[in-house]
Amino acid sequence: MSTAGRVFAATPRGGERAARCLDGVDGDGIFLDVGAANGLLLESLVMWGAERRWRIDPWGVDTSAALVALARDRLPRWADRFAVGDGRTWSPPGGRRFDAVRSELGYVADTDQERFARRLLDDLVAPGGRLIICSYLSTRIATSEPPSPAEEIRGWGWDVAGEAAAIDPWTGKVFTRIAWVSR
Ligand SMILES: C[S@@+](CC[C@H](N)C(=O)[O-])C[C@H]1O[C@@H](n2cnc3c(N)ncnc32)[C@H](O)[C@@H]1O
Repeated sequence: MSTAGRVFAATPRGGERAARCLDGVDGDGIFLDVGAANGLLLESLVMWGAERRWRIDPWGVDTSAALVALARDRLPRWADRFAVGDGRTWSPPGGRRFDAVRSELGYVADTDQERFARRLLDDLVAPGGRLIICSYLSTRIATSEPPSPAEEIRGWGWDVAGEAAAIDPWTGKVFTRIAWVSR
């Protein structure tokens, strides 16, 4: 089986990352991954959510048509929930809103990050829902930690509702940081 065909959470490393992302969720809900790639994180969140007896309804959008095609191919039961689009402008069908929206600030230039987060929060997160911002350690800079999205968000003068960090079980280093804000 290819790497893309494996459930992310099936490895200790992927499982820790998915579990921390799930910390930003507080129960059943519709979850949108902006930058969903091949759907592996969504697939893992559904699995880990079920272990907490939560029903996570997965949706994904990605700028890469090839990765969206792969996600649809891997996860045919959710094929109509994966869309090709840019998180800066994408509008979901029927004006749908989501209980949780996950994304990364690194998708846009530093100067556009607050505007990007504001657009996700206002246009895609349902009232009472959450925007979850993740930051991952790049394998190219293995000695440092991922930037803190909580610090970034507080720097804009926004309230951070919660934050979490995932520790790589193999290296003991922080390799994922997440922060979430409520709408
Ligand atoms: C590191 S992967 C994230 C995969 C998965 N969501 C996770 O957290 O493990 C980043 C993905 O974001 C997509 N992406 C980058 N900029 C984007 C944007 N502006 N809108 C939507 N997707 C974007 C890339 O094509 C890539 O597939």
